[in-house]
Amino acid sequence: MLGWRQIWSQSSHGSHSRVEDKRILLIIGGGIAAYKCLELIRRLRERGASVRVVMTAAAQHFVTPLSVSALTNEPVFTDLFNLDDEREIGHIRLSRDADLILVAPATADLIAKMANGLANDLASSVLLASDKPPLIAPAMNPRMWLNPATQRNVRVLKADGARFIGPESGEMAERDEAGPGRLAEVPVLIEAIEEVSDARRLATTVGAAGPLHGLHVVVTSGPTHEPIDPVRYIANRSSGKQGHAIAAATAAAGARVTLITGPVNLPDPTGAETIKVETAEEMLAATERALPADIAVFCAAVADWRIAEQGTQKIKKKKGEPPPALKLVANPDILKTIAGRKKGRPDLVIGFAAETENVLQHARKKLNSKGCDWIVANDVSAESGVMGGDHNRVHLIRKDGHESWKQQSKEDVATALVEEMAREVESSKTKAAGSRSARVKLGKS
Ligand code: CTP
Repeated sequence: MLGWRQIWSQSSHGSHSRVEDKRILLIIGGGIAAYKCLELIRRLRERGASVRVVMTAAAQHFVTPLSVSALTNEPVFTDLFNLDDEREIGHIRLSRDADLILVAPATADLIAKMANGLANDLASSVLLASDKPPLIAPAMNPRMWLNPATQRNVRVLKADGARFIGPESGEMAERDEAGPGRLAEVPVLIEAIEEVSDARRLATTVGAAGPLHGLHVVVTSGPTHEPIDPVRYIANRSSGKQGHAIAAATAAAGARVTLITGPVNLPDPTGAETIKVETAEEMLAATERALPADIAVFCAAVADWRIAEQGTQKIKKKKGEPPPALKLVANPDILKTIAGRKKGRPDLVIGFAAETENVLQHARKKLNSKGCDWIVANDVSAESGVMGGDHNRVHLIRKDGHESWKQQSKEDVATALVEEMAREVESSKTKAAGSRSARVKLGKS
């Protein structure tokens, strides 16, 4: 039987196209950039994907269903109430038959409909009926893109799990207009489609045969909120994206995953049991309750301090008195507490180090002071854009050395970390098999 890493490397880096046999549903919105979809369809079909297309009424002003249909070799779907189509292939099936849905160009109108769950034409109905988050490639005038209403809709869709590709910045078709709003170029769209296909293949093909199957992994994620009074709190800029990606990737690798998360604006990752907490003390209690675990990953940006005396009522301004001074006390260090356990310490304890300078040096110190096995160090200075952003550049530090990884998406960092965990599990099993000792550290099963 193929091991997980073999399946993964064959599927993602082998000679086959990464989208071969994938059924892609392309929803074309009404925008000048719609013509780029013709090229996209050709390139996807060259790679062995089948492409089905839904066009909005506006899209048909920019490209004709006839030219799209000639390239896809399929009818083009345009009408919610076309009885023939509804009988043969309704909007529910159109949506379910697809491995992946791409909306390109996604206009401000389509984005607004998606964010609000409207379904008054075929494109929006297919999207609402979908059981997987779409890829969205926006294209519109820069002012429409930057409008707070569009940005609000984009945030809603991201929180619902949609992935955005672009828009890119540059000159617009309209005279004297420039800024963010251009549809991403075809190779960029293809790269994103391939990445999502890889991630979904990993989740479905690996499943129970995954390298972490039989293991329990606990992951902490997100910020903590430390209340000042019932309406105010201290927080930090952590988005939880990296921790949630790790929970999703470990679940996809077959582990039973408990994710303990502070307040974030993200959907619960598929396959993980998600426990929601607010404060550092609650996070520690939930982590202890979740044990025993084989592996624990501490990705949360836990507040180091909390307010010594929280107001039980909203603190009021008092005329003539200075603002209140907030007295802080130290929070428990969750990582240090769990890594230091004599009994019930997870076999592999992985901490994160959020640093703004001397990243490697400070992170190595943390590896020792916290008593963990590995530290994933990242630069969270404002210039790095890591806090809240979609990308991360990390160093994996072990007791005997470190590796620096390239800048990549947080999902890819998570996948690479899971591969390292899988390697550790394999080597623990091999060591245990080779030694007379009956004790198997990781992978007890
Ligand atoms: N951590 C934790 N509990 C805390 C503080 C941190 O579990 N109260 C964990 C984090 O989840 C991370 C690691 O410790 O895995 C390092 O967190 P970081 O914020 O980088 O460092 P701190 O320990 O807070 O130290 P400092 O703020 O001085 O850099």
